[in-house]
Amino acid sequence: MNSHTSPELDPSRAHINPLGLRSIDHIEFIVDNADEWADYHVQCMGMQKRAYGDESTGLKGRRAFVVGQGRVNFIFAEPQGDSPEANQLRAHFDKHGNGVKDIAFRVKNAANSLKTASESGATVVRDLDVQDGFQAGSIAAYGDTIHTFLERDRGAPFAPGYQNIPGGIEDSDIHFMMIDHVVANVEDMDQWCDYYRKIFGFDQLAHFNIDTGRSSLMSKVMKDNLGYIKLPINEPSSENSQIQLYLDDYKGPGVQHIALLTSNIITAISEMRSNGVDFLHVPDTYFEELPGRVGEIEEPLDKLQENGILVDRDRPDGYLLQLFTKPIFERPTLFYEVIQRKGNSDGFGEGNFQALFEAIEREQERRGLL
Ligand SMILES: [Fe+2]
Repeated sequence: MNSHTSPELDPSRAHINPLGLRSIDHIEFIVDNADEWADYHVQCMGMQKRAYGDESTGLKGRRAFVVGQGRVNFIFAEPQGDSPEANQLRAHFDKHGNGVKDIAFRVKNAANSLKTASESGATVVRDLDVQDGFQAGSIAAYGDTIHTFLERDRGAPFAPGYQNIPGGIEDSDIHFMMIDHVVANVEDMDQWCDYYRKIFGFDQLAHFNIDTGRSSLMSKVMKDNLGYIKLPINEPSSENSQIQLYLDDYKGPGVQHIALLTSNIITAISEMRSNGVDFLHVPDTYFEELPGRVGEIEEPLDKLQENGILVDRDRPDGYLLQLFTKPIFERPTLFYEVIQRKGNSDGFGEGNFQALFEAIEREQERRGLL
C-alpha cells in the first residue's frame, strides 16, 4: 500500500488531476428493495447504516439507505411513487436487475470538475445541484453507469434529502478501510481507457491477457496519478468469456466487482462466511503449490486454507491476499472482492486466475471428471 499522504493538490500539477478528484466517495446501487439490501450489508458484511432518505425527508422518487464502514459508502436506492425520477430508477432495475448506477467521486470543486469534464467531451447527465453544504453534478460513463462529482461540508448530511443515522458505530470484526478498486466490464476496452485518459487524466497501470483455456478476457487498469483510484476495465476476448456472459446478463456494460480493502482478511472472510456470505470455491489443491509460487508470507498456511484465501505475489517486496464472493444479486453479475495488501503490493491477483484454474482441474482429475 502506498503511504497515505494528503490528496490535496499542488496547483502546478493540475494537469495530472484535471478534475480535482480526492477519492471515491460512494457507490450507488439501484435495487428492488432498499431495506433488504441495506440489511444484507449490515448483517453479512459488517457495515453500518449511516443515513436514510425518502420522499418525506426530501428525496425525489426514491427511498434509500447509506451503509458503510471506514471510507466505504454504499447507497441502496429503490423507486418510490410515480414521479419521473421513480420511473427512471424502475427502468434501470427492469433492464439491469440490481446493480451499480453511480461511482461518485469526492472532488475539490464540483463546479470545476463538471465544467472541465464537459469541456473534455463528457456528457453531463445531471447539472450542478447547489444546496446548503453540498454541491454535485454527474457525467455519463460506460453503459448506463454515471460518475458524480461532489463536495460535502464537514458535518453536513450525507446528501440533500438524507438524514444521518447517529451512532453508526463500527463494532464488527470485519474491517473495510476503503474501496481498493472498481472493475468495469465493457464491449470496447480501449474506448473506455481513452475516456478515463482524456477526461480524468488517468494513466494506464497495467495490461493483462487472461486465458484459462476455456474462456479469455483482456484487462487494462486505469488509475489516477495519486494512486487512490484504480479502475480496471475488462473486455471479452472469446465468445464464452465470463465478460461476455456478464454483458448478456446485465444487458450492457456495467460494474463487475468492487474490491474492499481490509487489514485482516482472515478475520473478515471467516466472519463473513459465518454470516452467510458465499465465496468462490477454492479447492485444497490450490494450496499445494502455494508456498512454491509466492515464497515466504506472514500468514499461516492452514488459516488461509481453512478460509479458502488466495495469495498472489505481485512484487518482490509485496503480495496480496484476496477472495471473491459469489454474485450478490439474483442475476450472476456483480460480486465483491475482499483484498489485503502487504508491503508494496499494487497488483490485482492476475497470477491467481491461472493458479485457481489449474487447481480446479487437478481437483476434477482426482474426482475422475476429466
Ligand atoms: Fe479485483
